[in-house]
Amino acid sequence: MRLNIAILPGDGIGPEVTREAVRVLRTVAEIAGHEFRFEEAPIGGTAVDQFDTPLPPQTLEKCLSSNAVFLGAVGGPRWDNLPRAQKPETGLLQLRQALGGFANIRPAACHPALAECSPLRKDVVEGADVVVVRELLGGLYFGEPRGFRPEFTDAFNTMRYSENEVERIARVGFEAARTRRRKVTSVDKANVLETSQLWREVVNRVSRNYPDVALQHMYVDACAMHLVTNPRQFDVILAENLFGDILSDEAAAITGSLGMLASATVGGDVNLYEPIHGSAPDIAGRDIANPLGAIASAALLLRYSAKLQQEASAVEAAIGRVLDERYRTADLGRASAADSRVQPVGTAEMGSLVAQALGEIMDRRQAYHTV
Ligand code: IPM
Ligand code: MN
Repeated sequence: MRLNIAILPGDGIGPEVTREAVRVLRTVAEIAGHEFRFEEAPIGGTAVDQFDTPLPPQTLEKCLSSNAVFLGAVGGPRWDNLPRAQKPETGLLQLRQALGGFANIRPAACHPALAECSPLRKDVVEGADVVVVRELLGGLYFGEPRGFRPEFTDAFNTMRYSENEVERIARVGFEAARTRRRKVTSVDKANVLETSQLWREVVNRVSRNYPDVALQHMYVDACAMHLVTNPRQFDVILAENLFGDILSDEAAAITGSLGMLASATVGGDVNLYEPIHGSAPDIAGRDIANPLGAIASAALLLRYSAKLQQEASAVEAAIGRVLDERYRTADLGRASAADSRVQPVGTAEMGSLVAQALGEIMDRRQAYHTV
């Protein structure tokens, strides 16, 4: 299989976690005999520094002509006070819009070996396995009008959703539920917002095509509470853009660390894969960031863009094995500090451990298939 992958390392810890994700993809290609071509391009603050814009046209072109895009992270205090057109985050939003992927899929499951790393009680998170399906191209992020009034006395954003936008993301949510435990929790604020009333009505309508999937509606504030008190009740959480952004960070508490979460953005011309964590400028360049969210995003790339299911699950199994062997980056350190068997590792070492485990897992599978 041949695949051209645009690699956008971005800012802060973006480059170091991306390096590990690429290492794992190279390992897959080598063992399974695929040809992955990686082409790097600047985005975010790094691009602003070089080209005065967070999404240079060459970067966008490279992404549009590739089979998949992998992004590390964007943003940092150095660029926080720039006008909107030059903010690193604007580059990412423009990229998302140009690629057209409206469905952002964010799985968050509690790995058994990490149940004690969560700030939540072990008996609360054990067995939790949710996927947040976040609408990515609508709502407050893109609604017009938006802006400041002169003198900064007033600021405004617009939350707007069309029937069609809700319908297409709802379908992704129900389809995802069909591959899992067949339950959708649709999140809104229908007691206050008109956009949410429309959302609820359209989701109800779409659900009639999925009689085998249970549908539940939940207000976003209640969902935020249930996610940390009883996460096992959730299977697919279907949410508009900002609600999904917030709830997916919260869902990270189930996994033990924000550094664990992967995402895939699908539904457009080219899919985009990125860990959900930010650029973490405070720990950038110190080889302490957790690359597992990035590596798990690479697994999603294998699954959705390359349709290499076996390779994708091998990468996920390799992550699981390394965690079972008690290798931990600093963010997963908390409860493990009490466990003398824990093996603290840095970013690069974590990446090579996963690559090594992957090699063993894939070699064994290949041997099995050739017998
Ligand atoms: C995310 C991030 C982005 C978002 C930022 C960096 C624009 O928080 O992917 O969750 O809000 O979508
Ligand atoms: Mn976010």
